[in-house]
Amino acid sequence: MERLKHVISARQFDDPEFLLGLFESANAMDRDDKFRALTDPLRGRILATLFYEPSTRTRFSFEAAMQKLGGGVLTAENMRESSSATKGETIADTVRIVSGYADAIAIRHFEQGTAAEAARISPVPIINAGDGVGEHPTQALTDVYTIKKELGRLSGLRVALVGDLLNGRTIHSLLPLLCLYKDVQFDLISPWQLRLPLKHREYLLEKHATFRESEKLGSEVLEQADVLYITRVQKERFASAEEYESVKDAYILDAAMANRLKPEAIIMHALPRVNEISPEVDDNARAAYFRQAKNGLYIRMALLKYLLA
Ligand code: NCD
Repeated sequence: MERLKHVISARQFDDPEFLLGLFESANAMDRDDKFRALTDPLRGRILATLFYEPSTRTRFSFEAAMQKLGGGVLTAENMRESSSATKGETIADTVRIVSGYADAIAIRHFEQGTAAEAARISPVPIINAGDGVGEHPTQALTDVYTIKKELGRLSGLRVALVGDLLNGRTIHSLLPLLCLYKDVQFDLISPWQLRLPLKHREYLLEKHATFRESEKLGSEVLEQADVLYITRVQKERFASAEEYESVKDAYILDAAMANRLKPEAIIMHALPRVNEISPEVDDNARAAYFRQAKNGLYIRMALLKYLLA
């Protein structure tokens, strides 16, 4: 894999060896953080986080990551309303300016392709922190790191992806990463209207990945899954409230369903959740989503160090 300057798509990570190295680096960050042994490899460097869409985990974990590595942050959590965008400034101009102040830019935008557009003109690394219904590559790195940590392996897994596969950008980034590993089988569970887009299904075919599609989160899926990855129905992407209402509670994982999973299976979610995992599941040992959110910090530390140190 060639050395990355920008992180725009999960498809850039096409080398399992590279991922292994990144995961080892993340493990080292985790350990050093616990023992208060972190050094400051990014002292004097600045990360700008430009967020045009809401976020809690992604922005905070990027900023915490940068600060734990000794760097600083310039943060804008509400770019859509608070920045020069309201005066009509283009993304290209904003990036031109901010890249003069910061050594890297993490950008989240409501339009697909914005991070790629920024990367075309930016002299500093651009990290896609979510571009509309496009991708969310650092979440996918977090997710794969979590699976490896929880299950000890990435090959031979049956992974069920449940919910809004049409609009869920975390899924669009997760699939190509999981396709790097042997014998991974997918169950794609969604209401028909929220089916995984054709281009991603074509990608799976191209990679000779095995997948089944269904509208039903039935016993077969629950009992066979090693990873049950639930997604939020992406309300903000729907044209009308009625459309959203008709599918929003399509799947709700409750304690009884969670207990039908294999004992060693894990339940994942990029969060925030709405109704799709009932809070009673949180105490189930299989519930990995809060650990998953924490892992995002260490993966982002490892990634920032790779891009900037
Ligand atoms: C996800 C996102 O923004 O795509 N959240 C996150 O970054 N952890 C998932 C979501 O909003 O449903």
